[in-house]
Amino acid sequence: MLGAGMLGTSPKHLAALMFCAIPIFFFFFFFHTPTSWDSSSTIPPSKPSNPWSSIALAIEDTKDLADQRDIFDSTLEGGARIRQACMLFSSEDTAHQMGANAVYERSVRTHLKHAEKWGYPSHILREDIIGHGKWEVLVFGKLLYLQSIIIAELTKPIGKRAEWIVWFDADTIILNENIPWSIFLPPREDFNDIHFLGNKDWHSFNCGLFMMRINEWSVNFLIQATALPLLRPDVPLGVPIPNMEQDAMRWVLDQEGYKEHAVYQPRLWYNTFAQGPDKEPETKMGDMLIHFPGVEHKYPLMGHWLDIVENEPEKVNIPLANLTLHSNIKGFWANLRTAKQALHNATEYTTADVIVQQVFNKHPELGDELKETSKRLERLVYEEPFQQKELKEATLLVDAALSRASNARAEAERHEAQQKEQAKVKEEKKKEEKEEEKKQQEEKEKKEQQAKQTKQAKEQQQKAGQGDKQAEDQQQGYH
Ligand SMILES: *[C@@H]1O[C@H](CO)[C@@H](O)[C@H](O)[C@H]1NC(C)=O
Ligand SMILES: *[C@@H]1O[C@H](CO)[C@@H](O)[C@H](O)[C@H]1NC(C)=O
Repeated sequence: MLGAGMLGTSPKHLAALMFCAIPIFFFFFFFHTPTSWDSSSTIPPSKPSNPWSSIALAIEDTKDLADQRDIFDSTLEGGARIRQACMLFSSEDTAHQMGANAVYERSVRTHLKHAEKWGYPSHILREDIIGHGKWEVLVFGKLLYLQSIIIAELTKPIGKRAEWIVWFDADTIILNENIPWSIFLPPREDFNDIHFLGNKDWHSFNCGLFMMRINEWSVNFLIQATALPLLRPDVPLGVPIPNMEQDAMRWVLDQEGYKEHAVYQPRLWYNTFAQGPDKEPETKMGDMLIHFPGVEHKYPLMGHWLDIVENEPEKVNIPLANLTLHSNIKGFWANLRTAKQALHNATEYTTADVIVQQVFNKHPELGDELKETSKRLERLVYEEPFQQKELKEATLLVDAALSRASNARAEAERHEAQQKEQAKVKEEKKKEEKEEEKKQQEEKEKKEQQAKQTKQAKEQQQKAGQGDKQAEDQQQGYH
C-alpha cells in the first residue's frame, strides 16, 4: 500500500490499491498508555528512555537490559538510539474497508511488538496531514511526518537525541523479531557520512522501508523531496504508479550532495516481497520482514502470514545466530569499503600526479581504462552496492587499471632516471675531457713557460758572460 512500488499494474488494480491504501480508522489498541511527555501518536517502548525508569528496569531485569545494550547509548544518558515511524489513517470515503483496516492494524502491531523487544519508540501518524484524502498529495504526509519527528529530536540536547529513524509502510509485517534494526546501520568507524539506508526493487528505489539518520542532512533531504512537486512541476512524478513521494525521494537521492550519503542495501535483508518480479514469493522462514506491494488478494495473504506470526511465532523467529545475516552484513560493508578506497585511489591518481599525466598523454589507453572502470564502480557504489558480485568485479577492474597505470608510471620513472644517469655520465665525461684539456693546456703553457725561462736564462747568461768579460777587461785595465 503506502508507497509500494509496482509497475505493470492495471488501472483497475491501481484504483483498488489507492483505495485500500487509505484504510478507515477502525480501532486501535495501544499496548502502552502514552506517557505525558509523548504526543498521543507516539508509543513509547515499555523499556523507557527515562533514566530513572531505566535504573528501575536494571534492578528488575538486568539480563534483558544487557540484550538491549546497542539500543541505548548509555542507560543513564540518552534516549533510544533508534525510533520508528509509519502512517495509518482513515478516510470516510473508504468506510467499508473495515477488513483492510483490521489487517493493517495487525501488521502494524507486529512492528510494535518488535519495537517492544528492542526498545524503539514508535510514531504512528493517525491523521491525514495534507491532501484531504487525495492520494497523490496525502502520501507526502510521510515526508512531513518524518520531518516533524526528526526536528523534534533535534530540539533535544545531543545526548538525548535518537540517532536513526526507521520508516515502515503499514503493509509490512515483522516476521522475525530476533533481528534488530541496529545491525543494518553503517559501521561507526568509517561510514559516518552515510545518512540514508534504503533498498531497490526491480524498478528502482522502494520507499516502503528505509532508515534515516537524525541530522541536518535528513531535514534538508525531506524538505527538498516535499517541495519537489511544488517547485519543480517539470519533474515527472507518479508515472506510471502514483507513488509520488517515492519518486520525489528518488529524484533527490540521485542529486549531488545526496547520492554520496545514501547506501542501498540488499532488499531481502529487511524488505522481502510477498510477490517477487515473477509473482513468486521471495520470503523465507527466518527473514525479518514481508511486504505486500501490489499483491493480488492482498488481505487474505497478509492475514495468512499474520496468523503464523501470531499463532506460531517459533516458525518465523529463527535466532540471529542461526542465520547468515550478520556475516552477510559485515561482508557488504567490507566490500563497499574496498570499493570506495579503490575509487579514492583512482581519483588521487588521476589528479595529483604530474608523471601520471605524462604517462596518460603518452598512453591514452591507460587513462581511458582507469576512467571507464572508475565510472562504472562509482555508479555501482552510489546506485547499486547491493549487486555485490558486480561491485567486487568492478573494484578489481579499477585495481587492475590502477596497477597497470602504476607500472607504466614506474617504467616512466625508471626511464627518466636512466636518462638522467646517462646524461650525468656524459656530463662527467665531458667535464673530465675538459679538465684533461685544461691540464694539457696548462702543461703546454708550463712547458712553454719553462722553455721561455730557459731561453731567458740562457740569454741572461750570455749577457752576463759578456758583462764578465768586460769587467775582466776593466779589471785588467786597472791593474
Ligand atoms: C539454531 O541452531 C541451533 C544450534 O545449531 C539448533 O539447535 C536450533 O535447532 C536452531 N534453531 C532453529 C530455529 O533453527
Ligand atoms: C589504495 O591505496 C592504498 C595506499 O596506496 C593501498 O594501501 C590500498 O590497498 C589501495 N586500495 C585499493 C582498493 O586500491
